[in-house]
Amino acid sequence: MIQQTLVLIKPDGVQRGLVGRIIQRFEDVGLKMVGMKMVWVDTEKSKTHYSDHVTKTFYKSLEEFITCGPVVALVIEGVQAVEVVRKIVGPTEPRTAPPGTIRGDFAHMGASFSNKRGIAVKNLIHASGTAEEAEKEINIWFDRIEMHSYNVVYQIHSMG
Ligand code: CDP
Ligand code: MG
Repeated sequence: MIQQTLVLIKPDGVQRGLVGRIIQRFEDVGLKMVGMKMVWVDTEKSKTHYSDHVTKTFYKSLEEFITCGPVVALVIEGVQAVEVVRKIVGPTEPRTAPPGTIRGDFAHMGASFSNKRGIAVKNLIHASGTAEEAEKEINIWFDRIEMHSYNVVYQIHSMG
């Protein structure tokens, strides 16, 4: 089942110069980038993207975080891409994210440490949680014309 999913390299990932190393992890497993751009998020877009979180106590800090610098937005395609990309990204909290995941390898702070200080969990990356979320989020971030259909060297389609 070929899916597309939305990834954002958050401002901390861009500011720390981790864009290349993060994208490498997706390319390494054979996932395909079909959309890519840099965007400076405004508060309105933050509310649209994080519509499920706007009423939560951490939302204000999350909005401050996601609007503090440009993000790199990606649409990634592959077999069961939503689940596979979340596996590579790891769980929300870097403190408990296992080694080998992006959040576990490039950050370490827990939610309680950050939230107590009124700052968001700086976990480098966003990835859609479900196929429904992916469809909604891709529409928020990308126009059809910004997404590309092209052949890769190892076509997943040819594997049967
Ligand atoms: O990003 P993910 O889907 O793993 O987590 P989420 O529960 O959808 O939360 C969205 C984002 O809000 C997280 O990635 C964190 O950056 C932030 N967050 C936070 O700052 N404090 C929390 N207690 C929970 C989430
Ligand atoms: Mg989420």
